[in-house]
Amino acid sequence: MKILSGTSNLKLSKDISKNLKLKLINTNIKRFADGEIYIEVNENIRGNSVFVIQSTSNPANDNIMELLLVIDALRRSSAKTITAVIPYFGYARQDRKVAPRTSISAKVVANLISNAGASRVVTVDLHAGQIQGFFDMPVDNLYTAPLFAKYIKRKFNNKKLICVSPDVGGVARTRALATRIKADLAIIDKRRPSPGKSEVMNIIGNVKGKTCIIVDDIIDSGGTIVNAVDALKKKRSK
Ligand code: R5P
Repeated sequence: MKILSGTSNLKLSKDISKNLKLKLINTNIKRFADGEIYIEVNENIRGNSVFVIQSTSNPANDNIMELLLVIDALRRSSAKTITAVIPYFGYARQDRKVAPRTSISAKVVANLISNAGASRVVTVDLHAGQIQGFFDMPVDNLYTAPLFAKYIKRKFNNKKLICVSPDVGGVARTRALATRIKADLAIIDKRRPSPGKSEVMNIIGNVKGKTCIIVDDIIDSGGTIVNAVDALKKKRSK
């Protein structure tokens, strides 16, 4: 087994390799003057199970392309298996057509990763569990709820807690945490008039006198979380 790190989060890759007492594969990952990516694997990986660590976070397009080129380089170097470890799986929000003539970016990215030659994907808290079905290969979706539950229990020991989903799409994720910490559940009815803008329509659940834990998987513009906090404060003070 060998580990190869992309450039999206070298610190994480180094920590993982240290933990596993393995050296990272020696690579050259460079940019040409025009921004194109150049990948070279500087050691023999024939017949090895290789884990590529690369998030597709900001800059998402560059990081995705880098991941694809690394997978391609490994496939062409006869790696036995290639596991794409993608702690942050970008482009996941568009997992269905939300309006006519829009794309399903999560499926496009899944196709790209499959076609490049990955044999397995490992990711963390996928935006929606059904994205696993966009791949015809094993996808391990790891959950962070146990870690957060441990922290929250320690931090808010004596408080009356309620977990709040900032939109309907996040209910499963929020309920999973609420169940672990034995807290109530509230749901915010959010509307998106346009991408990057959100409005709170309603809060479903009783938040009065409780410490609210808002659970979300992405902060992009920050609008969702800020609006949720404002609406919860208003509702609690009524
Ligand atoms: C939406 O489905 C996601 O779970 C997040 O709530 C959303 O992407 C956050 O975006 P923003 O910070 O721009 O409101």
